[in-house]
Amino acid sequence: MQTVRSILESRISDAIRRVTGLSAPAMVQPATEVRFGDYQANGVMAVARQLRKDPRRLAADVVANARLDDMCQQVEVAGPGFINMTISVGFLAERLLQIWSDPERLGIDPAQDRQTVVVDFSSPNVAKQMHVGHLRSTIIGDCICRMLEFAGHKVIRQNHIGDWGTQFGMLIAFLQNRVDQLETGDLSDLESFYRKAQEAFDTDSTFASQARSAVVRLQAGEPEAVALWRRIVEASRRHYQAVYDLLGVGLTEVDERGESFYNPMLPHIVQELKEKGIAAESEGAVCVFLDGFMGKDGKPIPFIIQKSDGGYLYATTDLAALRFRIDRLRAQRIIYVTDARQKLHFQMLFATARKAGWAGPEIVLEHVTFGSVLGEDGRPLKTRSGGNVKLMDLLTEAIDKAMAVVEQKNPGLDPAKKAEIARTVGIGAVKYADLSTNRTSDYQFSFQKMLSLEGNTAPYMQYAYARIRSIARRAQDRGIDVQAGLADLDRVILAMPDELRLARSLVRYGEALEGAMGDLMPNYLTSYLYELAQCFSSFYNTCPVLDADVDLRPSRLLLCELTARTIRHGLGLLGIGVVEQM
Ligand code: ARG
Repeated sequence: MQTVRSILESRISDAIRRVTGLSAPAMVQPATEVRFGDYQANGVMAVARQLRKDPRRLAADVVANARLDDMCQQVEVAGPGFINMTISVGFLAERLLQIWSDPERLGIDPAQDRQTVVVDFSSPNVAKQMHVGHLRSTIIGDCICRMLEFAGHKVIRQNHIGDWGTQFGMLIAFLQNRVDQLETGDLSDLESFYRKAQEAFDTDSTFASQARSAVVRLQAGEPEAVALWRRIVEASRRHYQAVYDLLGVGLTEVDERGESFYNPMLPHIVQELKEKGIAAESEGAVCVFLDGFMGKDGKPIPFIIQKSDGGYLYATTDLAALRFRIDRLRAQRIIYVTDARQKLHFQMLFATARKAGWAGPEIVLEHVTFGSVLGEDGRPLKTRSGGNVKLMDLLTEAIDKAMAVVEQKNPGLDPAKKAEIARTVGIGAVKYADLSTNRTSDYQFSFQKMLSLEGNTAPYMQYAYARIRSIARRAQDRGIDVQAGLADLDRVILAMPDELRLARSLVRYGEALEGAMGDLMPNYLTSYLYELAQCFSSFYNTCPVLDADVDLRPSRLLLCELTARTIRHGLGLLGIGVVEQM
């Protein structure tokens, strides 16, 4: 079913059209203050300006013309021409039942226009440690995929790993003499391996020329070089697959299409751009110059697609990938999730693809950026010794620390249960901390904050869920059949202010999701869930559930169960699990 906000918006828009003959959006938003009702429309003011009419008068005409009595118990013109609407209790009660009868979708319609969306995320680099930037990309990208899939889109995940480039020359050359080293090697070895190879490359000219010839052999597809390259990629893949598995991110090799895949296409990319007159040689390199991209020195910034030695670049590969995604994967929308430092790269990538006609105006190209992860000292996150933080260590530590929370809350649980809860809570905490900040800001990584049971954290949400589940368990102990009681429920009673507040929050879930999806901002969803959990908490403090009058009890149980369902669903879209007890 449509969200309340969108129904109100279309009804008022219709009324504006009837009254003025103009089609203008009513612009309905949830009210920012209780005294403004539940929703507020402010579209009338713009229309009044356009028609040079008194906005309050016009608003009153619109209200008189809008059919709202089935939904609202109060509609008021306020201030300079706002329309404040308060949803009626009967309407809320009816909605709750409708949502309840739809456990799969919680009354939320799929998108009308279902698209094929490619989401490029995670994308670590082979033979290098995955860093916290890749962690953010993985967590945010996964959440975006889950939301879009829930909206009914066809989502194609693409893990654009960095598995190609001249650096493989030195790695292959270095590996050639040390073939055994990777036998047991995990990526921490591979990274020191990378460092040593780099060192040899920088200091030993014989090795450097070996490395250069190795690149040539790899490019030419020479079997030995390819085999060594493949071993390096596989060693890396084992490392990041372990991170994905622990995170519960569904990425697998199937979603992987690394830079190497596009290698054969690169000459055509450059050639076609040259033929179209979009790329030209400049100081030996092949560059695209685009309008509107000027450096601080006032000179145009080149988008370099081929170096003077003939080598291709990150940009060239991205152009090939973009074409592949549109032509072969049939993407109508491509979303790239990387940190904000790559902003210019993607702006130029998109501009080049549009200019070349590879991405028509109907194709949506988006760069979803995010800020850095900072340590508690406010500087980019590092280990105590100043090294890069290993993601595996970080996640394991989160799980260990979550175990301490579980021990404190519920020491009597059996050890296997505790371990399972610690994992869900620990991983959930890391993800939630990331997703609950506006992604464009930097955020401070603090185990203490993210694992706190107070505030906008995963453990708080998971605890709220577990607490509701325990109500259902206690009901059962007392011989109250919750499911049967709710199946029979045909009229929800909402009387207490906290019941009403909770009911209002519950029916707004679809709106929150719509907002989060519209701006690709997972933090809108976490804010909603946090507010919902707080509404529940007040409700539970003031309204007895199991000890309520028999005629009130089913309605209150419904509020409980719907809250639990909404929390579980919302956390699910964030990629975070729930636990039945903690
Ligand atoms: N491997 C790159 C990095 O670590 C990220 C790739 C993002 N995706 C893309 N199509 N460029 O910075």
